[in-house]
Order: sequence, then C-alpha cells, then structure tokens
Amino acid sequence: MTESAPRQSPLATIRELVGSPGRTHPYPRYELLREHGAVVAVRPGLMVVVGYAECDAALRDSRLRVQDGLSYDAIYPDWREHPALRGYIDSMLYRNPPDHARMRRLVSSGFTPRRVNGLRPAIEQLIDRLLDRLAEAGGAGAPVDFIAEFASRLPIAVISALLGVPEQDQAWFRRIAADVTIALEGITNLDALSVADAAMRDLSAYFVALIERRRPEPADDVISVLAHSGVERLNQQELVANMMLLLTAGFETTSFLLGHCLLLACQHPDLARRLRAEPGFSVNYVEETLRFEAPVQATSRWAATELRLLGHAVPAGTKLVLILGAANRDPRRFADPDRFDPDRGDIQPLSFGAGSHFCLGAPLSRMEAQIALPRLLRRFPELALAGAPVRRDTWVGRGLDELPISLGQKLPARAGA
Ligand code: HEM
Repeated sequence: MTESAPRQSPLATIRELVGSPGRTHPYPRYELLREHGAVVAVRPGLMVVVGYAECDAALRDSRLRVQDGLSYDAIYPDWREHPALRGYIDSMLYRNPPDHARMRRLVSSGFTPRRVNGLRPAIEQLIDRLLDRLAEAGGAGAPVDFIAEFASRLPIAVISALLGVPEQDQAWFRRIAADVTIALEGITNLDALSVADAAMRDLSAYFVALIERRRPEPADDVISVLAHSGVERLNQQELVANMMLLLTAGFETTSFLLGHCLLLACQHPDLARRLRAEPGFSVNYVEETLRFEAPVQATSRWAATELRLLGHAVPAGTKLVLILGAANRDPRRFADPDRFDPDRGDIQPLSFGAGSHFCLGAPLSRMEAQIALPRLLRRFPELALAGAPVRRDTWVGRGLDELPISLGQKLPARAGA
C-alpha cells in the first residue's frame, strides 16, 4: 500500500470509469481508488467499495438494501414510464425483505440442483452442435467470430431449455434479450433505454402467452413450475419480471465468461494444452477467469440507516457501489492479483455476488463453461486468434462483442467427447 498522497480524486476516477476509455481499462482506475482505502467516500451520499473483505461483508449485510422501487423514486422518479426498468425492478434482484425471500424461494423451486444437473447431457449435445456449426463457418482456416457463432448462442439455448422456451423462438430471443439487457446498465444510458423499452414490451407479451399455454399443459420446466405456484404467491407481473430476469441475467454474462475463457486460453497456450489434456483443470480455470475478468464489474446497495461497515462509517441514505472487479484483484486477498493463474488456491471470486442475492444461475454458467472449453479446444487443436478482439463499451457489463478465431486446417468431421 502506498504511503504517498493519492494521485487523483475518487470522483475524477469514477467519472473516468463510466466513460471511455475507463470502461475499457478499468483495472488501473481501481488501483487509483484503492489508494484512498478499501471503502472510499466519493461525495456525500456516494461511496465505493474496492476491497474483497469489504465487498463480501456489504453483500452479506442485511442492513444494506438493493436499489428497489423506493430508492429509484429518489434518483429517477420517471422510472415507471420505462417498461424496461419496471420489468427489472419487479424482479427479485431489485427486491428487499420480505418480498425478496418469497420470490427467491418460488423461483429456486423451479431451479433445483436436480433440474440443473439433469441438463448436463443436453448441454453437451448443444455444445457439440454448436461446434459443428463453428467447423462449418470456419472451414479451411476462414476466420470465424467465436462470440456470434458460439458464446452468444450457448447460454440462450441452455436457459431456454431450462425455462421451457421452444427452440424455434430462440433466434428472436437472442436479439430481443440483447436489447432488454441494455436496461441492466440502469439509468446511466437513458438514450438507449427506448430500445430496451420496446424489447421489454414484446418480451412481456411473449411470456404472458407462454405462461397461459403452460397452465393447462405443464411440462418439466421452470415456466410450468412458476405458472403453477399460484397467482396468490407470484402475481402475473412478478412472474413475467422474474422470467425476464432469468433469461437476460444469464445471457450476456455467460457469453462474456465464455469469450474471456477462450481469449485467455489463446493468450496462454500452455494453459490451453492443459485444458485439452487434464480432465478437471477447467474447474479452476473457469474460477480464475471469473476472478480475472468479472462479467459483472459492479453492483450496488444503499444504507437505509446509519451503520458501520468493517470499521467504516456509512451515513443513512448512502449509496454503495460494490466494485466486484476490484475486489477480485484486491492484493490483500490475492497475491499478484493482475497475474492470470488458475493454479492459485482458494479462488472464490465475488463475480456471482454473495449473501441473499447470490446468483441463482452460478452453477449453470459454471457448468456451461467447464464443459465447453475443453471440448472446444480438443475439437480444434490448432485454434488461434485471427484478429483483435472487440470489447463491449460498457463498464458494469464487461465482455467481448467479437472474438475472431481461426480453427486451423485439421478439422475432425464431427464433435467427439
Ligand atoms: C457468468 C455468468 C453470470 C454472472 C457473472 C452473474 C452475476 C450475478 C451477480 C453479480 C448477481 C448478484 C447481484 C447483486 O447481488 O446485486 C447475480 C444475481 C442473479 N443472477 Fe446471475 N450471473 C451469471 C449467470 C446467471 C445465469 C445463467 C442466470 C439464470 C439462469 C442468472 C440469474 C441470476 C438471478 C435470478 C439473480 C438474482 C438473485 C437474487 O436477487 O436473489 N445469472 N448474478
């Protein structure tokens, strides 16, 4: 930790982070914030948390609340005018006790480990089909975009299978989910919100129709479980909002994870070799990728009453921005944090959050990446980067929009395990 004076004010650093090029290169900015401590007062009413222990404690602290409808009223009273914001704010991610526990219990009942683990053979099949597609697109060494052809397709296919969305609707879903996801950047981009609003209207109508179809004919999927949990427990609006959350919360995040996993493997050929050869190495590899490049860089909480967080005074009404991407590179928790090292022990990144809002889809996205990576690298032993990756120009959502690769000349005809 440096003894000298901090190089730049926290407010100036936050301004850089929400604008380009801070969005593209956030990690040096996190170090500028860290010079002020693990919990940093930016201005009255706003603090940022960059320490691992401090972020973990804040996420688990029941005195801290997620931004809900009431807190949005204070910062952006017009939020109800935006279907996209309303859609998310009615879901569990934006609910506090007692609503949150009720919603989470109901949705979890459709999201059981049995149902998630039962998807493994279907995920393997989906992966092999997508690898066949990739082989066709990238035949004879032609460059192919891994994000468009694989990383953006797998998560939507998997979540659709889990929810019970028919296969023929998936192409439409991919487009519309990408538009709705804009709303997850919150009110930082009001211009783009009209696109998200239109998408949310269409998606909402689609889910209402799908739920109505499942009521008389239930299937073994999450939509049927929720549709039969009873209107008295999850009303129609909440039902649709949570379906939308499940669809969109796991779509781009998992696509970002897959993109980073492959980019890092291309940059570290020794690790790519181990992914091909060592069964089980992908578990630590995926955890380290989640730590090194968190697909969700930050979330937030607010203090309804004055409190102390690991010795730091937090006045009532303060918003806390919890920078998960900075916590994952806290040198007090991770030795040499800017080094990508899947062999470091006890990784446990905060990339899926912690506490009562811990990501419901964590086992699913981990499973997708752990299966996909070794299968992809074994299928294409000569796979290599074929151009510069294109990064999404956002801060909270961190991932690639394009990852050009070449598959090499040695292309086996069909996918094998
Ligand atoms: C690599 C992929 C993913 C990442 C990095 C990720 C990240 C996160 C984070 C950080 C949170 C907590 C936010 C907070 O506490 O403020 C969260 C919550 C959530 N995630 Fe994920 N997620 C991923 C995949 C998924 C998938 C695949 C699904 C669904 C199938 C999903 C569904 C949810 C839900 C429903 C919540 C809200 C839980 C609650 O409020 O109780 N996520 N996710």
